[in-house]
Amino acid sequence: MACIGFIGTGNMGGALARAAAKSGLAHSLLLANRSPEKAQLLARELGGEVVTNREAAERAQVLFLGVKPHLLEGMLDGIRDVLDAREDRILIVSMAAGKDLKTLRALLGDRPILRIMPNIPVAVGGGVTLYAASPEVTEAEKRLFEELLAESGMVSEIQESLLEAASGVTGCGPAFAAMFVEALADGAVACGLPRRQAMDYAAQMLMGTAKLLLETGEHPGSLKDRVCSPGGSTIQGVRKLEERAFRAAVTDAVIATFEKEF
Ligand SMILES: NC(=O)c1ccc[n+]([C@@H]2O[C@H](COP(=O)([O-])OP(=O)(O)OC[C@H]3O[C@@H](n4cnc5c(N)ncnc54)[C@H](OP(=O)(O)O)[C@@H]3O)[C@@H](O)[C@H]2O)c1
Repeated sequence: MACIGFIGTGNMGGALARAAAKSGLAHSLLLANRSPEKAQLLARELGGEVVTNREAAERAQVLFLGVKPHLLEGMLDGIRDVLDAREDRILIVSMAAGKDLKTLRALLGDRPILRIMPNIPVAVGGGVTLYAASPEVTEAEKRLFEELLAESGMVSEIQESLLEAASGVTGCGPAFAAMFVEALADGAVACGLPRRQAMDYAAQMLMGTAKLLLETGEHPGSLKDRVCSPGGSTIQGVRKLEERAFRAAVTDAVIATFEKEF
């Protein structure tokens, strides 16, 4: 049981606070946000305590930083002395996109830091949170972090050098998957299905297929082959997708996210 702090309880900070609350590991949740109303609403929902940034930095054993990347440095200037004055251990968890461990250590000093990359589906417990750890983080702290976010979906440690490549799939992928669902639904609407049903069926199909692949470990190509009966309709759809270079387009989309310069 630990005291878990969040500075910045917006979309992502709020979603991870909800997951931490469900884990049952947080004996108290400390919630700090620039506009306190957001933290107050969340505190009412989760049973947490609304605090200032400095109080969160003073009391939390695990401190999530949920402000936008360009605001991180300024926010840290306001709590650095509090962190430095602490004699006990504190695990700092940064979700700021693009802020690598080297930058975070330059800002925070050589202390236990996790750089994490969550994605939008964490809000419904179906997310992927990738994390890379500074050398000061112990195995026990990694386990605690994984258990804290277990209700958000998959939590996976990754070598920091691979984080950008992986987040092309996990972070950007929900946009691609949503486009696929929309396109499937458009096809069904063109064939006469009402829009709402078309979108629900497409999204459920995508979720179920993903579940099947994850639970069985089956190769996606093999699953595709099992659905394509000889002379059937599915192979005709596969033929159309191949004609339009569907797989090449998706592969290139992931590479484009990786090659994007900041
Ligand atoms: N959203 C995603 O899908 C996603 C995915 C991966 C990583 N991330 C990372 O998550 C972080 C948050 O993104 P978000 O989408 O959740 O943004 P967001 O909804 O704008 O949340 C940021 C929150 O930080 C608060 N804030 C700003 N300055 C503050 C300060 N000095 N002290 C305390 N709170 C402060 C804001 O308060 P106000 O209400 O006053 O504006 C806001 O509630 C970013 O670093 C982003 O890179 C997000």
